[in-house]
Amino acid sequence: MNHLIAPSILAADFANLQRDVEMMNNSQADWMHIDIMDGMFVPNISFGFPVMKAVKKYATKPLDVHLMIVDPDRYLKAFADAGAYSITVHYETCPHLHRTVQAIKELGCKASVAINPHTNTLLLKDIIADLDMVLVMSVNPGFGAQKFIEHTYTKITEVKEMSALTNPHLNVEVDGGVDISNISRLMAAGANVFVAGNSVFSAANQTEAIAQLKNAK
Ligand code: DX5
Ligand code: ZN
Repeated sequence: MNHLIAPSILAADFANLQRDVEMMNNSQADWMHIDIMDGMFVPNISFGFPVMKAVKKYATKPLDVHLMIVDPDRYLKAFADAGAYSITVHYETCPHLHRTVQAIKELGCKASVAINPHTNTLLLKDIIADLDMVLVMSVNPGFGAQKFIEHTYTKITEVKEMSALTNPHLNVEVDGGVDISNISRLMAAGANVFVAGNSVFSAANQTEAIAQLKNAK
C-alpha cells in the first residue's frame, strides 16, 4: 500500500498561509494536517476555526484534523462543518470513546484516535475495529519541531499487529519528528500515514522535501 504524507500547517508561515497551502496543493502531499490545541490538554494554543476555514478555502486535499483539546465532543460538528475529512481525538480526553467515535462517523468524517507516548497501545484493543485510523504520537503533543521518541517503532508494530486481527485496513499515522532519517523504519514498523511539520517547512525546497518523504521506500 502506498504511504501518505500529511504536512502539518502548524509549521507553515501564517502570514503567507495561502502561499503555503498552494505549495501543498502543487506537491505530492496527500492530506493537510490541522493541529488544534486548546492550552488545556496541551500546554500550547495553536489556532481555531477562522484559520482552518481559510485553509479549507484554498486546499485541494483532505484536511486531517488532530484535536488536542479537552472534551472534543463539544466541537465535533463544528470541525465537520469546517471541512474536516478525518477527525482524530485523543484517547486521553475521551471517557466515552466509543460514543465519540460513532459521533464522528455520523458526521460523515473518518474516525481516528491518537495515543500519547506514554499511553499503552493495548488500551485501543476494544475500539480498534471501529476506527479508520490510529495516530501514534512520537512526541508529547503541543509543539512542532520536537525530538522523535524512539519507542514509537515498537508502539506502531503493536498497533499494526492488533489491527491485523480485526481491522486490516486501518491507517496507522505517526506524528512528531518525522523526517527522511526515520520514515523508512517507521514504514517497516507498520505506519502508512506520516505527519511532517518542521522537516517540510524548514526545508529550503518544501515541495522537494515532501517529494522525498513520498518517494521514501
Ligand atoms: C505536535 C503536533 C504535530 C506537529 C508535528 O503536537 O501534533 O502535528 O505539528 O510537527 P513536527 O513534524 O515539526 O514534529
Ligand atoms: Zn498533529
